[in-house]
Amino acid sequence: MNPHDRIIIALDVADAARASAVVEAVGEAGRFYKIGYQLMPVGGLDLAAKLSAAEKKVFLDFKFHDIGATVERGVASVVKLGGDFLTVHAEPDVLKGAVAGRGDDKRLKILGVTVLTSLDQAALQRAGIDMPVDQLVLKRAEFAAEAGADGVVASAREAAAIKARFGDALKIVTPGIRPAGSAVHDQKRVVTPGDAVRAGADYLVVGRPIVAADHPHAAASAIAQEIADVV
Ligand code: C5P
Repeated sequence: MNPHDRIIIALDVADAARASAVVEAVGEAGRFYKIGYQLMPVGGLDLAAKLSAAEKKVFLDFKFHDIGATVERGVASVVKLGGDFLTVHAEPDVLKGAVAGRGDDKRLKILGVTVLTSLDQAALQRAGIDMPVDQLVLKRAEFAAEAGADGVVASAREAAAIKARFGDALKIVTPGIRPAGSAVHDQKRVVTPGDAVRAGADYLVVGRPIVAADHPHAAASAIAQEIADVV
């Protein structure tokens, strides 16, 4: 896979006009964009359609979490919108609903969110979950594989164990990426693009290091180069 296709640029900006400006500034170096909650209600869905029409790939980070039948209908609607990756929480019924809703459409890949990186062991315990984070991530990855989902979102810390257990059966999408020397912002555990790929990540989600860079095109190209140097 071309290194540029492995970088998913998170369009975490206030409106579609700003997002379009980022896409323009990144230019040819950007081939895959993530649209999440912030953009979804303010033109993000139209932008997703426009990006698809411009032959960019689109990651809809909607993190669906509901009863299976509702998720199924929601995902069927997402298929009509068009998109390449869609996130749902990695629980058996949610995943099964999503895979059913996707139907025979081969384009939309279903990704299970394993454990949010904002949750540590203490936070899980407060929620009544005693299992160690790394085991819970693997358990939820197993739910994803069993349901026929295409991949998972997981931190680089867990990527190697997921790769070892599931091989190519699950694509691994990893956020928390920071090129050496760049600002960490509010991320707690960050890894460089090279280390994430070495750990087994197939796709890297990168927001501010590209979106807030003085030269977004150069920032994305440098990350692609770092990936190319590893593979
Ligand atoms: O700007 P930055 O590179 O930190 O953006 C990372 C993106 O990945 C954000 O859109 C964030 O919501 C998302 N993400 C994350 N950690 C997770 C899941 C998603 O940072 N566990």
